[in-house]
Amino acid sequence: TKNVGILAMEIYFPPTCIQQEVLEAHDGASKGKYTIGLGQDCMGFCTEVEDVISMSLTAVTSLLEKYKVDPKQIGRLEVGSETVLDKSKSIKTFLMQIFEGCGNTDIEGVDSTNACYGGTAALFNCVNWVESSSWDGRYGLVVCTDSAVYAEGPARPTGGAAAIAMLIGPDAPIAFESKLRGSHMAHAYDFYKPNLASEYPVVDGKLSQTCYLMALDSCYKSFCHKYEKLEGKQFSIVDADYFVFHSPYNKLVQKSFARLLFNDSLRNASSIDEAAKEKLAPFSSLTGDESYQSRDLEKASQQVAKPFYDEKVQPTTLIPKQVGNMYTASLYAAFASVIHNKHKTLDGQRVILFSYGSGLTATMFSLRLREGQNPFSLSNIASVMNVAEKLKSRHEFSPEKFVEIMHLMEKRYGANDFLTSKDCSLLAPGTYYLLEVDSKYRRFYAKK
Ligand code: ACO
Repeated sequence: TKNVGILAMEIYFPPTCIQQEVLEAHDGASKGKYTIGLGQDCMGFCTEVEDVISMSLTAVTSLLEKYKVDPKQIGRLEVGSETVLDKSKSIKTFLMQIFEGCGNTDIEGVDSTNACYGGTAALFNCVNWVESSSWDGRYGLVVCTDSAVYAEGPARPTGGAAAIAMLIGPDAPIAFESKLRGSHMAHAYDFYKPNLASEYPVVDGKLSQTCYLMALDSCYKSFCHKYEKLEGKQFSIVDADYFVFHSPYNKLVQKSFARLLFNDSLRNASSIDEAAKEKLAPFSSLTGDESYQSRDLEKASQQVAKPFYDEKVQPTTLIPKQVGNMYTASLYAAFASVIHNKHKTLDGQRVILFSYGSGLTATMFSLRLREGQNPFSLSNIASVMNVAEKLKSRHEFSPEKFVEIMHLMEKRYGANDFLTSKDCSLLAPGTYYLLEVDSKYRRFYAKK
């Protein structure tokens, strides 16, 4: 088995959203705080008829239909999510409804959870399975599904919601360079969900930013080290065509990429010319801690990074800026943005991904792209995902309506014995939606 990786992708995000500019004014934040300060344009959210299970049902059925994959051909199904609707029953088992119907119950895999990293764990599991001696020749299927909602306050504009499904197998147009991986895992209380009665996390925003950047530095160091051992030459950001980051909000992506340039400057790497060297030299003596606090370093490295950012990062930012943090799906929505924007020119290119989950777990890894053959080609993936159309056909809500929905969802979280409005008028045909949670907490869905 060669070139194991992603054969096909589908993305689903709710058709309901709120403009960040509107939310900003409603929240009494200073003008530009959410749009420029956080770098976000719009935020998607689930109304009372959608949740992580319905979104994943929608993404999986749509992927199977649009790429004409027989559900019998799936041998492993892994879900990454941090949205807990049940502490025992996995989301994967809800998705089995799709496969039971055609008699396929022989499917391994369950859910993986650690904040926004669960999708990456699920993806690695599937890729490893296809590369292993227990592989039976069928496809793997990975689903990242999350609804990111925060209590009222500074974190609220960093919500979002989506599900992404990815088909895994050999001879993939999106192949793993499996030897090129660097991880960093540690114990931290930066973002966690200890209150099981609430969907909202406990979050130390500033600490989570620093943890993210520290994990990025550490992953980049081991990634570079492994590259150098394998290729016999130094790695720098010019050795990859795109850098895709877990994207809680765009400003952090800008800072992260600048951080890679700073790392390159400390290593005397080839991406750093004389002018850049001069700009960043004053910061080379900072301790790690000091470097995370220095505003001057942030500014200087962002300046040096700007032309590279426009070329290697900007094309990855579309969906995360428009939909918001989709937790486990965020990184893959950023990756889907590159395919959407650049599918015509990706043949032969290398894309580096950085996955981060608070708590904390992080990995940097590398993908090598080829056009591939229909239906598993980059151009077909772009046309199936149909991102521009999905973004365009959304409905903007007022902040009052959004807050009202958040209040209703707070009451519904963990509750039983209720019917939803069953109002699916805003949903596209083929979308699953929630009908009822009965007195025994059993959830029932329908397909529009
Ligand atoms: N115009 C332009 N920029 C502005 C304005 C304005 N009017 N007002 C503020 N800003 C800038 C600030 O300068 C700051 O930018 P900087 O970081 O470059 O300095 C930015 O907007 C944010 O403002 P802050 O006051 O620093 O942020 P705040 O405390 O309001 O909260 C935070 C931001 C911490 C990101 C919060 O939204 C949060 O906690 N989110 C959830 C945690 C998170 O996503 N962490 C990321 C990794 S972990 C994960 O993925 C969940």
